[in-house]
Amino acid sequence: MILDKKFENLFLNVTSRAALAAAYLIGKKDKIAADKAAVDAMRKELNKINMNGRIVIGEGELDEAPMLHIGENVGTKNGPLLDIAVDPLEGTNFVANNLPGALSVITVANKSNLFNAPETYMNKISANCSEPNVVDLDYSIKKNIYNLAEFKNQKPESLTACILNRPRHKKIIDELKSLNVKLRLISDGDVAGALMVIDKKYSVDIFLGIGGGPEGVLAAAALDAYNCHFQGRFIFDTDKDKHRANKMGITDLKKKYELNEIVSGDSIFCATGITSGDMVSGIEIKENKFLSETLITHKSSGLKKIFKKEQTI
Ligand code: FBP
Repeated sequence: MILDKKFENLFLNVTSRAALAAAYLIGKKDKIAADKAAVDAMRKELNKINMNGRIVIGEGELDEAPMLHIGENVGTKNGPLLDIAVDPLEGTNFVANNLPGALSVITVANKSNLFNAPETYMNKISANCSEPNVVDLDYSIKKNIYNLAEFKNQKPESLTACILNRPRHKKIIDELKSLNVKLRLISDGDVAGALMVIDKKYSVDIFLGIGGGPEGVLAAAALDAYNCHFQGRFIFDTDKDKHRANKMGITDLKKKYELNEIVSGDSIFCATGITSGDMVSGIEIKENKFLSETLITHKSSGLKKIFKKEQTI
């Protein structure tokens, strides 16, 4: 089933209002307050929309965080059954410390078309190549780089790899260095990291490494609209994580998920800038108005653009 075009603007309002709410807390050194402001604003907007929405990826499970939790119903209950993944504030450190790249993000699909991901880490890979067997989570770093270089008709040393700058990635980073690949190390924000492959202007050829699972699911919808490659494998280290995965119906804990097992059918993705970053500018407040910039994609309508919008506060 196709998602009505009217939802494009409605979900863009959701992330732009959440971004505005968080923007008031830029540089205030309070991640929790900024996150809460974004969550509250997002819920308020979601509940205005004529839909039977269900949060499949949110800010924790019911017993953990009383904020847009997994399983929460949103919307007026008058409209289509939708699965919704949210990250009202992606990059809490960025907002707290007034750094570039904070986003408010949402992905929407028809019921049962969005993976119900647990809040664990995920090993991910994305690249701008839709052909199978060029890059793969199960290949060595060297094989991925050489294959991608051949596919793009470039030398390995002219490729750029984006990865979260974390001690857990030391081995991968060392390997990339030994292959002479250019590195783009990011301090946070791997929704944007994974999406940087969508357009040449961001100068990233491959994104890889371990980050949040929910962030992987959110990015997958936009990568789908851009016909890019994405794979993810959840990491269930603790017994608690394994138990939670089983409760969510995941039996094969080592499964590698292909993009279309994470999001299928039609989807809408919106990411609004809170602080300015590579993809979108941050919120600009002028008296009683605010200006927002959102990367929006809608798979079925082919919409893929950065949308600037002025709204009354
Ligand atoms: P928050 O906005 O929740 O702080 O997440 C930021 C982030 O960098 C994500 O983009 C990423 O997936 C995750 O944290 C990585 O987790 P960790 O900081 O534990 O490596």
